[in-house]
This record gives sequence, C-alpha cells and structure tokens, in this order.
Amino acid sequence: KRPAGAPDKSLARKVGSVGVVGAGLMAGQLALLFVRRLKVPVTLTDLDQDRVDKGVRYVHDEIDKLLLKGRISADAGNRLKALVRGSTDKAVFADADVVIEAVFEDLAVKKQVFAELEAVVPESCILLTNTSSLSVTQMAADLKHPERVAGFHFFNPVAVLPLVEVVRAQQTDEATLATVFQLGKALKKTCVLAADAPAFVVNRLLTRVMGEVVTTVDEGSDLHVADDALGPLGLPMSPFLLLNLVGPAIALHVAETLHAAYPDRFAVSENLGRLVAAGKPAIWSYDEAGKPFVDADTAAL
Ligand code: 3HC
Repeated sequence: KRPAGAPDKSLARKVGSVGVVGAGLMAGQLALLFVRRLKVPVTLTDLDQDRVDKGVRYVHDEIDKLLLKGRISADAGNRLKALVRGSTDKAVFADADVVIEAVFEDLAVKKQVFAELEAVVPESCILLTNTSSLSVTQMAADLKHPERVAGFHFFNPVAVLPLVEVVRAQQTDEATLATVFQLGKALKKTCVLAADAPAFVVNRLLTRVMGEVVTTVDEGSDLHVADDALGPLGLPMSPFLLLNLVGPAIALHVAETLHAAYPDRFAVSENLGRLVAAGKPAIWSYDEAGKPFVDADTAAL
C-alpha cells in the first residue's frame, strides 16, 4: 500500500531528454548529474553564448575529472560529453521531457522563464525549479498548465549530497510528482516531499542556525570563535565555510525571503548585507595551503 502523500508510481512518465535553463555553477552541476545518471541528451541554455560555452565546458571538465579518478572509461566520457549541448535559444527544448530552471533567484525572472518555456516545450513536458526559497505556487500561477510545475531543490555540492526536496505547489498534479520522484531515484538521490512554504524545510532550519552564527558576529563575537563553536558537534563544515560554499548572495536572499515571511523569527545580518552589497563572493579567502582566512577587506566591513 502506498504511504500517505506518496505519488502513484504507475503515473510516472519516461524521461528521455532534459533541459537546464541557466549555465551558472548550480545549473552546470545539475547538467552533469543528469547526463551522468540518466545518459540522455541534456541541453543547457543561457542568455549569451559566452555563458553557455562556460556551462558546457564546466560539464566537460567535470567528466574529464571523473575519467582521471578512474570512475568512467574514456569511451563512456566521450559518450557523455556528446550528449551535452548548449544554446542561447529555448526552442531547443521542443522535444524535452523535463526542463529545470536554475536562474537568478527572482520571482519575476523565474515566471518569465517559465512563460517562455511553456511556449516551446511539448504539452507533456514537466517544468522544475531549483529555487532555494521562492514560492513554486506563485511561479506557476500564470501558466496555462501549472499542474506540470514542481520544485526540485538540490544541495551543494550536487554530486555529493544525496538530498533533494520535491516541492509540491498547490497546482502540482500526481503524474508530475510521480515522474519527479522516479527521476530522483534514477539520479540516485533521496527525495523528500516538502510543502511549498518559504525556504521549504532544509533552508528554513539551516538559515536559522547560520543566521544566529552570523548575527553573533554582527554583535561583536570574534568570527573565528563563532565559526569554530559548533565544530565539536561533528558537522561536516563550519558555518562560515558553508556560507562560502552556498554563496553569500544566495544565503542573503534566503534570509531575506524568510525575514519577509517570519520577521520575528529570522534576522538579516547587517554584515552579510554589506558583504553582498560590496560584491564580495566569499567571506573567507584561502591561503596557498588551502587554509581559510578572513581577509582585510572582509574584516573591515
Ligand atoms: N563540488 C563538487 N564536489 C565536491 C566539492 C565541491 N565543491 N567539494 C567536495 N567535493 C567532492 C570531492 O571531490 C570528493 O569526491 P570524491 O569522493 O569523488 O573524490 C567528495 O566530495 C568528498 O570531498 P572531500 O573528501 O574533499 O571533503 P569532505 O569529506 O570534507 O566533504 C563536503 C566535503 C561533501 C562538501 C562536506 O564538507 C559537506 O557535506 N559539507 C556540508 C555541505 C552542505 O551542508 N551543503 C548544503 C548547503 S545548503 C544548499 O546547498 C541549499 C541552497 O538552496 C542554498
């Protein structure tokens, strides 16, 4: 018997080709995962050819690394590379079974991407978003077929972390959910069904912890002391290292989304805001031995 809330597996559709909108780091990691696990054509799109080329190059380089590590043969590597294509034109998704977007975290931008996709993809194509915290229900609201939209939220580094949150929007239908769960299994990920609430489950919890660590520093604690304090709990990464991995801009966006939804529970760190406004990509720098340190610019913020 199916557990409550689990989709009916018999409704799942086959996925024979995948599209990825965006060619940034997250999109590149997704394209790599899809091609490696599904061995089907994967097409990346972005706004200009330069970004598209970078995205495809990232996937090719990661395939080369797998080859060097002895995880795949040269033949398999070449076959995988041949399956990855790039384009600036979303019309390439005309035969896609699934398209996932991993573009800038802005509701209006994502709605626009979905509207453009709906004009070119087949009627049976499922549209997924890798958003960290935005409402999937709102993202799908203006589409002709919002029932084929769901969240499919991966964690960094995508190749390593097993978890994926499947977000059921108010309109998501059973066939979409069943296909997404089957897809997650083929990708060798552990899918959990999350409600479409701000930042879903993991980022809601993580942001609470990270927010407290960062605001402790805002209030005057030494950054290294605050960062090391949780070490004895055996976490795989200290909070500021994790903040670097996620990217300060994404972390700030999630904190702002949660602050807007629950102002009493989520603070937005002033230091984090200043750091992102100053365009700094990371809180740490790394010395030649790969050891993280706080650079002078960041310390002065
Ligand atoms: N990208 C790709 N692969 C990476 C990587 C990266 N940035 N960092 C490490 N890896 C790979 C390594 O290549 C290695 O793979 P291999 O076994 O095939 O050689 C494997 O991960 C293990 O790496 P290491 O032995 O060097 O390092 P660790 O054992 O210390 O593990 C880690 C590294 C997996 C990143 C671990 O520190 C970890 O799990 N950190 C916590 C990450 C986390 O919590 N992520 C969630 C962030 S929240 C999020 O993404 C949501 C978003 O919406 C904001």
